[in-house]
Amino acid sequence: MQLTPTFLALSLAISSAFAAPSSLHQRALCSSAVKITQSENPFATRKLHANAKYRAEVEAAAAAITDASLKTKALQIADIGSFLWLDTISTIPTFEGYLNQTDCSEIFGVVIYDLPGRDCAAKASNGELPTGSLARYKTEYIDPIAKIIKANPNIAIAAVIEPDSLPNLVTNDDLATCQNAASEYRDGVAYALKTLNLPNVAMYVDAGHGGWLGWNDNLAPGAAELASAYKAAGSPAGVHGVSSNVAGWNAWIKNPGEFENTPDGKYNKAQDEERYVENFGAALATAGMPNHFIVDTGRNAVQGLRLEWGDWCNVNGAGFGRRPTAETGNALADAFVWVKPGGESDGTSDSSATRYDSFCGKEDAFKPSPEAGAWHQKYFEMLLKNANLDGTGTPTSSVPPTGTATSSSAPSSTTSSSAGTAAHYGQCGGTGWTGPTKCESPYTCTVVSAPYYSQCL
Ligand SMILES: *[C@@H]1O[C@H](CO)[C@@H](O)[C@H](O)[C@H]1NC(C)=O
Repeated sequence: MQLTPTFLALSLAISSAFAAPSSLHQRALCSSAVKITQSENPFATRKLHANAKYRAEVEAAAAAITDASLKTKALQIADIGSFLWLDTISTIPTFEGYLNQTDCSEIFGVVIYDLPGRDCAAKASNGELPTGSLARYKTEYIDPIAKIIKANPNIAIAAVIEPDSLPNLVTNDDLATCQNAASEYRDGVAYALKTLNLPNVAMYVDAGHGGWLGWNDNLAPGAAELASAYKAAGSPAGVHGVSSNVAGWNAWIKNPGEFENTPDGKYNKAQDEERYVENFGAALATAGMPNHFIVDTGRNAVQGLRLEWGDWCNVNGAGFGRRPTAETGNALADAFVWVKPGGESDGTSDSSATRYDSFCGKEDAFKPSPEAGAWHQKYFEMLLKNANLDGTGTPTSSVPPTGTATSSSAPSSTTSSSAGTAAHYGQCGGTGWTGPTKCESPYTCTVVSAPYYSQCL
């Protein structure tokens, strides 16, 4: 599955990290150390922080939109909280500058995502660390992150731990890549949970989504896998439960569920995320693990778009979903959150790219799409047009505004212009790239994910 190798153009990230965003009110850090208790919902009294990295991406995207009402909508997104992905060792030095802008009334969201052999069942988000480098994961990734958090004890933090990793061990153990990664996933997650078990941190171990560990036969093995990592870490008090639907598309409530009436539907009781919370939550309790959830609603406003439940890549026709809130109406669901920063691509649709995953070429995937983590302006604009930030109504299907996903009606490309120069956000270099290498003025070709992807920024 996808996710965000956010090799964000560092110039953009760093310059924006320390500038006070104009729309922020006067920052007020907590005057004493934050202590989150395990019985507390850390989101009940704290708002998810809108980090400066995503804010800068969204503000740049808004600046590129000419339609006035769409531009206004885009700027609203800049104020919505989301998670920061620390998905390479090189992103760690940017962490503290984002973290220390967090107000005392807020909680900072961070995603821990750099296990050796990461993304063992897909290609788009393969990690920087090969299997066999667990020691580096511990000393060069987890330890420095823990050090930064310890230096900022007055800031509340919610951490999503290693999306997809343990779920992949449950359902993709037929793949050699996942078999080879398994022991380091287990030890790595346990080490992360133990090391990040700090008073100001609430941790949620990733649990996939209802269409993954929600199958009746996966509930108990899935819960056992997660609980085993939790226990191996010494049952840390900082673990509140699990995250679900990270970078996903499932509705919170949808009855019947999107795939409920398919022939296989009867083998899965978790047909929407609320039913996943109930069913997997019960399995976690049985397995002896805290079972509160945070649920990613960042891109789930529109349902009925996927051909198959497992389709994960840049689903065409999607819209921004419920804005982050602790008002979920479900006692086990601590919050709806935006974990995946909407507008960052899930993976490239270029079938000749090294990290091409065939899911990104499926009929229901938006094309063309850039490498995972790269900014995807057309996709962002689509999410905006289809947004349902307040969860009003219960949309069951929608006609994608940019046409269907077939190549003949694919959205007009921003990737290159006929003049041989790439437009703003267009690709301008990277492994196997044969298109334009120059950018339209005033943009410059910037390495976003070496060696795979350069973009006009
Ligand atoms: C925030 O973090 C940055 C980067 O580590 C540092 O330069 C800056 O002094 C910090 N600011 C505050 C208020 O702690």
